[in-house]
Amino acid sequence: MSGIHNIVILTGAGVSAESGLGTFRGPGGLWEGHRVEDICTPEALARNRDLVLDFYDQRRAALATVKPNAAHEALARLDCEWPGELLIVTQNVDDLHERAGATRLLHMHGELMSSLCEACGARAGYGGSMLDGTLCGSCGAADTLRPDIVFFGEMPYEMDRIDRALSRADLFLSIGTSGAVYPAAGFVRSARHFGAQTLELNLDPSEGSFFFHESRMGAASELVPEWVGELLAARD
Ligand code: OAD
Repeated sequence: MSGIHNIVILTGAGVSAESGLGTFRGPGGLWEGHRVEDICTPEALARNRDLVLDFYDQRRAALATVKPNAAHEALARLDCEWPGELLIVTQNVDDLHERAGATRLLHMHGELMSSLCEACGARAGYGGSMLDGTLCGSCGAADTLRPDIVFFGEMPYEMDRIDRALSRADLFLSIGTSGAVYPAAGFVRSARHFGAQTLELNLDPSEGSFFFHESRMGAASELVPEWVGELLAARD
């Protein structure tokens, strides 16, 4: 693992599965009893606003009942100890990476603990229910707050920053993601194009497994601490 300075790590729902948060494409393809398309689209929000707001209210409340697991903790340790550039790009909307202590982190699909005002575009930390008609703290409009989640058909956050990090990466790691959703699913090919080594850690081969130099199959809570230990030991 010599010659590695700059690292980009992509995480998905599999990294939070052992904390007790459901993945999206589990058995039956249902997410907490719903088809992803019936919840995660601007059309679903326009069609049935209360259902979508209630769904995310429940997900936000569920966050209070779960804790980071060994995978989040190992990535936070790496973030703290790695002397080179490092960026954790998470597709997850939970806050378990930051609760474990990670700071070099961005949420490309938004955050459960944040609201987005449809009237003025303000994003702000948000902890309660969105069904109670809270006014936007920036523009004062009523009934305009929605979950700050990137729905299908919307542009993920911070793509420029991600592209820059991928172009500089010596190592790209993907953890606990099915590789079914773009643009995240394409990061492995971008990173390879720019010369990075690529490694996947997942319970089973993702849709893009073929594109990685190496794939390790198993639970994130075991594979991630093991890998972080190897990387930090090789640096010493
Ligand atoms: P998925 O549910 O599609 O994939 C989760 C992956 O994690 C699967 O490949 C599982 O095999 C793997 N997995 C499950 N448990 C694991 C464990 N304990 N250790 C390691 N791997 C495990 O979730 P994502 O790929 O994150 O977008 O989904 C991508 C996006 O689709 C989400 O961000 C979400 C959804 O639409 C938005 O909400 C905007």
